[in-house]
Amino acid sequence: MKSIASAPGKIILFGEHFVVHGTKAILAAIDKRVTVTSTFAENKTIKVNSQLGTIEVPISSSHEEVKSEFRPFVYLANKIINSEQNVSGLEITIDSDIPIGVGLGSSSACCVAAAASISELFNELSSEEILKMSIEAEKTIFPDTSGADCTVCTYGGMIEYPSVEKIDNTFDLNLLIANSMIPHNTKNSVEKVNKFKENDEERFSQLCDLETKLIDEVITAMKNNDVTTFGLKMSENQKYLEEIQISNDTLRDMINSLKEISLGTKITGAGDGGCIITLVKDENMDKVPALLPKDKEYFSAKIDTKGVVWSTIEE
Ligand code: MEV
Repeated sequence: MKSIASAPGKIILFGEHFVVHGTKAILAAIDKRVTVTSTFAENKTIKVNSQLGTIEVPISSSHEEVKSEFRPFVYLANKIINSEQNVSGLEITIDSDIPIGVGLGSSSACCVAAAASISELFNELSSEEILKMSIEAEKTIFPDTSGADCTVCTYGGMIEYPSVEKIDNTFDLNLLIANSMIPHNTKNSVEKVNKFKENDEERFSQLCDLETKLIDEVITAMKNNDVTTFGLKMSENQKYLEEIQISNDTLRDMINSLKEISLGTKITGAGDGGCIITLVKDENMDKVPALLPKDKEYFSAKIDTKGVVWSTIEE
């Protein structure tokens, strides 16, 4: 039997980093996916094949014994196998069209799709159970995760985390994602923000309050079909991200270069590299290539509404 699951990547529209410290955040799943295929194997090993390489370890190996990028898969395989009997081995294959390490939810989508794919070899799970397992798996590489990324990758659509209810936005968001091509490490960026907080608890708490207020205003703007305010709030959010020092010159240059054609632009995700998102006026879409440096990639962010999906095939 073969079990195939796929999950979308994500963007954070508002609230990254502050969400780790308990504020709300607005996220959307995007139309780039990771697919995980799981099959039984005969040789008492867990084998993982991905763009990052292949590993094969004895079935009882701890996830801590493997390179960090493979840990969530070994963790999930062991967790699921341990609750079953007579499993002789597993092979897990990951195919992804989500760029890796640039804030578009590649690792969360992998955790969600792997949790669904491996567990569906044995039992039908609810989305809630898949989410719970995927967050545990993500914690093997990033213990402080807020869980927001795995949540939107599981449920899809646009959500105001921690709610999983989809936001029914009435206007078309012409969102463009531009990749700085600088890979980042979410764990390190989150630790940097923890240090900022330790050094100035009072200002950090003010920024969390400002972010909460901003998100409430964004929700109102969406209800009022007010795309201009939505854009302004993106730029306002960027100021808070600059203040907690997860921006850099490359990202600032990219944001500035898009100023004249956008309603608002900000980092999306952990920052320190990775991607920015910009809300571009319809009539300006064709001006983007001339404004961004040639070595940067960009594409339209279409919102995915399905979240994680899975199926099994008898062979
Ligand atoms: C990373 O995509 C988003 C962060 O807020 C971390 C998290 O929420 O776990 C930086």
